[in-house]
Amino acid sequence: MTTERIRIALQKSGRLSEDSLDLLKGCGLHVTRSRDQLFCRIKELPIDVLLVRDDDIPNFVNSGICDLGIVGENMFAEMQCASHSFSAIVLERLGFSLCRLAVAVPDNGPIRAIADLANTTIATSYPCLLQTFLKSQNIQAKTLVMKGSVEVAPRLKIADAICDIVASGATLAANNLRELTTVLQSQALLIRPAQKLSPEKEDVVNRLRARMQGTLTAEDSKYVMLHAEKTHLPDIIKLLPGAESPTILPLQGQPDKVAVHAVCRESVFWETMERLQAAGASAILVLPIEKMMA
Ligand code: PRP
Ligand code: ZN
Repeated sequence: MTTERIRIALQKSGRLSEDSLDLLKGCGLHVTRSRDQLFCRIKELPIDVLLVRDDDIPNFVNSGICDLGIVGENMFAEMQCASHSFSAIVLERLGFSLCRLAVAVPDNGPIRAIADLANTTIATSYPCLLQTFLKSQNIQAKTLVMKGSVEVAPRLKIADAICDIVASGATLAANNLRELTTVLQSQALLIRPAQKLSPEKEDVVNRLRARMQGTLTAEDSKYVMLHAEKTHLPDIIKLLPGAESPTILPLQGQPDKVAVHAVCRESVFWETMERLQAAGASAILVLPIEKMMA
């Protein structure tokens, strides 16, 4: 019997592609790129990878051509907004490729506040999200739909403002634009079609999803070890971010001191370590966690 393979759509190149492939790697999956680099087989699980343009991913998943996809929330939300027949659903919010859809205006132009957008023309690749936002603000404005290079529209005098993706802000700065307001916060999403798959395929989807969850929680989690005097313990444990019941171990030849080991499920910053030290902790070690399973 041949096992049914599931198909996952990933962005070929761009904002999401490297992080998406890294996530698969973190799940123990190695993508062997074929010569045309469009279709790759994964050996470890019955999964094939389709490398496509990000704009195509929502439709590939919605129509069932692919069983899974990793796509920016911006793109997903626009499709959901614009098309009644779009029924693909979000399986997991992946937490990477953070960016926002924002309205931006010329640095020294007349638009100073959201209300000033009334009766302007706004260039965007996200007409539905933009119009929904404008409606919520009781503002009427025209949209000029552009597929790319939206940021040049004000300079060409074909629009007064833009509504586009901002990540670092470098594109806006390079074009003398400044952010006026955020329309949508966006991150990478794992999506699937609404229809049920065969039991065999559902099983592969569930396994991949569990591995993704494990990889993502492990990335955010750290194993913290430190020494402390017993009297300082209550203060120190309070400072450990997101730690559940730490392990307390005796220290050889130091009856007043103990070692504390804890899994911290939130980021451990230098500031956290400085605070731990100030509370009486010493020999503080923060170790990465590679994999996690409950
Ligand atoms: C977006 C957007 C800007 C850029 C902003 O394009 O259109 O060009 O990213 O990023 P920054 O704030 O870090 O400068 P994207 O990379 O998504 O490419 P695409 O619009 O061509 O799909
Ligand atoms: Zn794109």
